[in-house]
Amino acid sequence: MCGIVGYTGINNAVDILLDGLSHLEYRGYDSSGVALMAEDKINIYKAPGKLSNLIDKLKEQDKKNITSKTGIGHIRWATHGLPTLVNAHPHSCTCGGLTLVHNGIIENYKEIKDELESKGVKFDSQTDTEVAAKLIAQNYAMTKDLVSAVSQTTKKLKGAWAFCVMHKNEKETIVATRKNAPLLIGVGDKENFLASDIPAIIKYTKKAIYLNDNQIARVKPNSIEILNEDGTLAQNKIEYLPFEPMALSKMGYKHFMLKEIFEQPDVVRNILQDKLHDEFNKISLDDVKLDKNRLKEINRIQIIACGTSLHAGFVGKYIIEDLTGIPTDVEPSSEYIYRNTIADENTLVIGISQSGETADTITAIKQVKQKGAHVLIVTNRKESLLARLSDSLFHVNAGIEVSVAATKSYLAQLMSIYLFAIYMAETLDINPKKVQEIKHELLTLPAKLEIVLSNAPKIRELAKKYSGYKNFIFIARGINYPTALEGALKLKEISYINATGYPAGELKHGPIAMLDDTMPVLAILNEGMVYDKVMSNCEEAYARQAKLIGVANFIDDKHKNIFEDYILIPQIKDMVSPALNIVVLQLLAYNIAEYLGKDVDQPRNLAKSVTVE
Ligand code: AGP
Ligand code: GLU
Repeated sequence: MCGIVGYTGINNAVDILLDGLSHLEYRGYDSSGVALMAEDKINIYKAPGKLSNLIDKLKEQDKKNITSKTGIGHIRWATHGLPTLVNAHPHSCTCGGLTLVHNGIIENYKEIKDELESKGVKFDSQTDTEVAAKLIAQNYAMTKDLVSAVSQTTKKLKGAWAFCVMHKNEKETIVATRKNAPLLIGVGDKENFLASDIPAIIKYTKKAIYLNDNQIARVKPNSIEILNEDGTLAQNKIEYLPFEPMALSKMGYKHFMLKEIFEQPDVVRNILQDKLHDEFNKISLDDVKLDKNRLKEINRIQIIACGTSLHAGFVGKYIIEDLTGIPTDVEPSSEYIYRNTIADENTLVIGISQSGETADTITAIKQVKQKGAHVLIVTNRKESLLARLSDSLFHVNAGIEVSVAATKSYLAQLMSIYLFAIYMAETLDINPKKVQEIKHELLTLPAKLEIVLSNAPKIRELAKKYSGYKNFIFIARGINYPTALEGALKLKEISYINATGYPAGELKHGPIAMLDDTMPVLAILNEGMVYDKVMSNCEEAYARQAKLIGVANFIDDKHKNIFEDYILIPQIKDMVSPALNIVVLQLLAYNIAEYLGKDVDQPRNLAKSVTVE
């Protein structure tokens, strides 16, 4: 997690670093800090909490007087040590001549720290990061070359990192390296940049170089020298960055999350325009390298992902098995890694990740690649680490998502999975009727999404009414069970209310014991195979005095009275209904959190990209 920025050039570094960090705040907001190179020393400014605290601190110290042209900055999401001032990055060596920022976890930091402490080295913080600062400084004392010192140090480290390092003796220079954590170099004119992610530098340059694992870069205003792990000179190519700065504006909405929820009809329209024009023509997916012969060899599918992307994967299982008949398992990446998983050349592994840089998913994907599985990555970031590991790629193309809580990217992931499942069925020449039916439904989605969004005022009223409850249960069956999980996750992560999703049929096997009038039950109902069964489960909850909230495309007259409240969505076939139901739940979660005055776009303890395992 965390965000890193670096600048060396002809302009005022502090302004560029603070601006860059402001575009990375979604990656962490436990503390922030900058280190700025001065004549014969490095000045460090840090503050706990959000970036605004650092900005205020710098104002007090009269930022105008800080004229450095080289510096590094950090936004922290704490892994080791409390989110305090002393643990804020940049961290330094004892002499103060060397400083660095770090994204990741140094897994063997305890051993190294013990060893250094036994030699008398004193530590200021509880972070894992500080050991790297101390070790690099020791190595620098011998080599007098920062690149060599960093290279020697990382050979001793285990874990994941992106580092930007400065030494007061190496003027205008930032040394950067990475392993399993993101870091890119922005290429400018008489100035160069470093950043964890594109938004930090897109205002200044559209050209970037991506560092590979274990490469080390020496970045100066007029040169970028990159060395491979074995010390040979590397020739990484310059790539063109895809983002427009405009995408980062709230466009009049109070929060990014609300803006992103309301963008969903257009997100779906874009995807359809690109890949599905009508019910009758076959879908072609340029970056999917699975032709009929290769698809025929695939006898199992494994979907791996985390959080919201995992929920999209659960929906994927229903669709893929229904359309293709290929057995499909879904598992959190963090669980998949640490057991003996069975995958081979006949396995298709689908990794789903909005950011394309989730550490758990990256590790899992690296593992299955070694086993020869075909890897399809479904991501919103086609330039990401995961995209680079893929054999086949599905760019979900939802546009940049700033709010930590994923909304439009989830819908875009669902769309991608529908389209990929259709692609498989069409390529294998199976289930033409079902395929046509789903295509028809997908084409109606944008208009129906707009109808759901027009219910926003009613959902806001509901949010007000239910915002005082401390616990919620979300239930559904079949393809909407993942919708219940995702709806509960949305509520939890932005309002901190305890909400749990259950398969409706499981309620009676335990959770029902918790029900009374203090625990609302939100039920997702769709006219179709499981409607009657979910309704029976609603009756059971009603009999225990739980307040029932329905999200449904139909509620029969006999049952309307058991619902305290319900929101009706347009008619839609069961198979595609998760794409509509979730929008109601996103709006409900948003409005409850907003009503409670929570920090909707940057919920506590979270970050948008989780680059540690
Ligand atoms: C989504 O609302 C969450 N903040 C989180 O669960 C997220 O989906 C998860 O960390 C996975 O991220 P990814 O899609 O970028 O891999
Ligand atoms: N492990 C480091 C810390 O806790 C860096 C975490 C991050 O990536 O922000 O400070």
